Amino acid sequence: MIRRVLLSTAVFSLLMIAVAATAEDSYQVHCAQCHGIAGQGNNALGAPNLTQLSAPYIRRQLEGFQAGWRESDDSYTQTMMAAIAALDAPVLASATSAIDAFPDKSHTTAATHAGNKKRGKDLYNAYCSACHGTNAVGNDALGAPNLLGLSQDYLTRQYRHFAEGRRGGHSDDRYGQQMARLARALKDPQLIDDVSSYVATLAE
Ligand code: HEC
Ligand code: HEC
Repeated sequence: MIRRVLLSTAVFSLLMIAVAATAEDSYQVHCAQCHGIAGQGNNALGAPNLTQLSAPYIRRQLEGFQAGWRESDDSYTQTMMAAIAALDAPVLASATSAIDAFPDKSHTTAATHAGNKKRGKDLYNAYCSACHGTNAVGNDALGAPNLLGLSQDYLTRQYRHFAEGRRGGHSDDRYGQQMARLARALKDPQLIDDVSSYVATLAE
């Protein structure tokens, strides 16, 4: 009896290792060349750090890239859409669980562009913290992602896309629409640099 329990425990452990290995494989085969082998991102390719993003947010974005509501005329967005266009749901689900298991790399970004961090802090607290949280770690209940660990280039680019109606304009993009409404209210490029340089200091 004991032997049988031990055997089934061993088989179960092996199965779990196999499941973990498949998830890691899906990620390494389909995502790592752009997002890095540990999900840390690659700024030169415009591919963001994924390690700090919640699984519900990642799933929603992947769905949007495939369904078309996260589409834009931006070349980085087009690259991402093409990269996963042919992948089926189980592969994407297993890549997402591999990302979830990576250590959080949100403390690796530094501000790369000048910005007035003091004004950025005031703006952040007044306009962003209600949804993204005081420390920018996000709030899944509101659909607002963690912003720590996203490079300043990526933060600024996405923000501008929302402000210009290139992201969050689609009627199926429920959460993107909320962010787009806010971004239109604050679209001075200098102020966006101020906010994103402040967010980058929070990640240090
Ligand atoms: C050929 C390069 C490439 C490959 C391969 C790739 N991506 Fe991306 N990914 C990008 C780029 C570039 C962006 C930024 C898109 C944008 O700016 O709109 C991105 C964006 C994303 C986002 C949105 C992040 C956010 O903060 O909103 C997620 C999630 C994501 N990728 C997950 C994945 C997963 C999972 C895979 C593998 C199944 C994958 N990507 C494969 C280049 C790639
Ligand atoms: C009303 C709530 C709300 C407020 C206020 C808000 N956001 Fe957002 N933000 C969201 C939601 C929801 C998303 C996710 C959109 C999606 O799913 O595509 C988002 C997404 C983002 C993204 C994209 C992140 C990524 O990984 O692609 C950036 C950058 C961002 N917000 C910056 C800001 C900044 C800076 C402010 C303040 C100036 C701000 N947000 C204020 C709700 C909000």
